[in-house]
Amino acid sequence: MDQPRKLHIKSYGCQMNVYDAQRMVDTLAGEGFVETAGADDADLVILNTCHIREKASEKVYSELGRLRAAKDDAARAGRKMNIVVAGCVAQAEGAEIIRRAPIVDVVVGPQSYHHLPQLLTQAKAEGRALETEFPVEDKFAFLPPPSRQAIRARGISSFVTVQEGCDKFCTFCVVPYTRGAEVSRPVSKIADDVRRLADNGVREITLIGQNVNAWHGEGPDGRLWPLGRLLRHLAGISGIVRLRYSTSHPRDVDDSLIEAHRDLPELMPFVHLPVQSGSDRILGLMNRKHTADDYLRVIDRFRKARQDIAFSSDFIVGFPGEREEDFCETLALVRQIGYAGGYSLKFSPRPGTPAAEMWEAVSAEEMDERLARLQGVIDGQQSAFNKAMIGTTVDVLFERPARNPGQIVGRTAWLQPAHVFASPGIIGKVLPVAIENLERYSLLGRLAAPAMQPTQFPITSVQTTVGA
Ligand code: SAM
Ligand code: SF4
Ligand code: F3S
Repeated sequence: MDQPRKLHIKSYGCQMNVYDAQRMVDTLAGEGFVETAGADDADLVILNTCHIREKASEKVYSELGRLRAAKDDAARAGRKMNIVVAGCVAQAEGAEIIRRAPIVDVVVGPQSYHHLPQLLTQAKAEGRALETEFPVEDKFAFLPPPSRQAIRARGISSFVTVQEGCDKFCTFCVVPYTRGAEVSRPVSKIADDVRRLADNGVREITLIGQNVNAWHGEGPDGRLWPLGRLLRHLAGISGIVRLRYSTSHPRDVDDSLIEAHRDLPELMPFVHLPVQSGSDRILGLMNRKHTADDYLRVIDRFRKARQDIAFSSDFIVGFPGEREEDFCETLALVRQIGYAGGYSLKFSPRPGTPAAEMWEAVSAEEMDERLARLQGVIDGQQSAFNKAMIGTTVDVLFERPARNPGQIVGRTAWLQPAHVFASPGIIGKVLPVAIENLERYSLLGRLAAPAMQPTQFPITSVQTTVGA
C-alpha cells in the first residue's frame, strides 16, 4: 500500500482563508494526502496567503526563504517537497512569485483550488504551474459534491461559505481585486452543507463571506432570498443550536436580518460590523457609502430588536487625509457605541487601490499615536464588557477539553472563551454557567442549574465607557 503523503498548510488572513485551507485539505485527502503539523517532513507545503496589508503580503517571501532550506534538506534526504502559494497574494502577484521564488511549484488563486490536483500533476510534468484566472462561474466548485466527498466536520463549530467576493470597492481594499465580484451560493447547497455538518456533530454554524449580508442566494422557491430568511431556514435544521455570520457591511443590513435577530434564539447576539472611521469626510474618501450617523442608526435597529446584542468593529487609523479632528470623531463614535471588541489597524497603501494614490499621507508617528489611543479605548471597553459577566449566569456551548486538565472550554454567545471543571460529556451542549472570574480574555465559572439561576445579561454595564 502507498504511504500517505504529508501536507502542511499555513494560512494567513481572514476566516475565508481558514475555510479555504480546510477545503484544500479535504480536496487533497482524495489524492492521498494527510495533514501534518510541521513543514519540515511535508511532501507538500501550501502557503495560503493574505494581501490585505503590506505586512501580511511580505510574510510570503520571508516564509518562502525559510522553506528554501527545508526543500534543500528534503532533496538531500532523497525526498521531493512541493511548494504551493495560494490565496490573495497568489491572485494579486502570481507572476511575480513565479519570477522571484524559483522554489515555488504551483501558484493558485482563491477561485481555482478545485484544480489543485491537476496543477500539481502539471507542475510535475512541466516544472511550474500558475492559475490565477477568475473563473467566476465555478467559484464554489471546489466545495466537494456530497457524492464525492462530504464537507468534513472539525469539532462543534464550523464555518460555511455562503458568499464570495465583493462589489463595494472601498478605496483602501484589495479584496474586490483578489476575490473578484460578489457571488452567492444557493440555499439548497448551503442547507445541504449545514445538514451534513449537523449530522457529524457540529452544533454552531458561522456563515462567512467577505460581505456576508450582501448574500442573496436562490431559494427553493426560485426567488432570491435575503440573509435573514436564510438564517431562519437554517435555524430549523435539527442539531444546530447556534448561528452566526461574518463579516457584514453596515450598508447591507436589511429588515430581514434585524427581524432574524428579534425572532431567532439560535442567532447569536454578537455582530461584527466594521465602520472603519467615525468621520464622514474620511468615510467619503474611503467610498464606504455610509455616514457615521447611518451606522449609528443601524446599531440602533439591532439594539431595538435584541437588547443583549453586542458589537465589534474594524477601524483604520491614518487613512490619507485623516486629521486630528477626524480621528476624534472616530473616538467619539467608539465611546458612543461601546464595543465588546474591535480591530484597529494602521492604513497600509495597497498597490492598485485608489487610496494608495491619495497624497495627504499621515505620518508614521501620528499613526502610531492614534492607534495607541484608539486601542486603549477599545481595550477598555472590551475589558469592561468581559468583567460585567462576573456574577452573572450565561449560556456556554462547550467545544473541547481545555489545556488545564479537568477543564472543558466553550464559548458564550459573545464568543468569550469560558472554562469550567466538568466531564467531557458536556462537549456539544449549551449549558448555563455561573461566571466567577476573568483571567485575561477567558471567563472561569461553574455549571449552574438553569432553573435556579436564570440567565441575565448586564447590558447597562456593558455600555459604560472606559478608557482615554
Ligand atoms: N468586508 C469587510 C468590511 O467591509 O468591513 C472587511 C473585510 S477586510 C478583509 C478586513 C479589514 O481589513 C477591513 O475591515 C479593514 O479594516 C482592514 N483593511 C483592509 N484594507 C486595509 C488597508 N489597506 N490598510 C489597513 N487596513 C485595511
Ligand atoms: Fe473590502 Fe470594502 Fe469589500 Fe469590505 S466592503 S471587502 S472593506 S472593499
Ligand atoms: Fe486577506 Fe484575502 Fe482575506 S486579502 S483578509 S485573505 S480576502
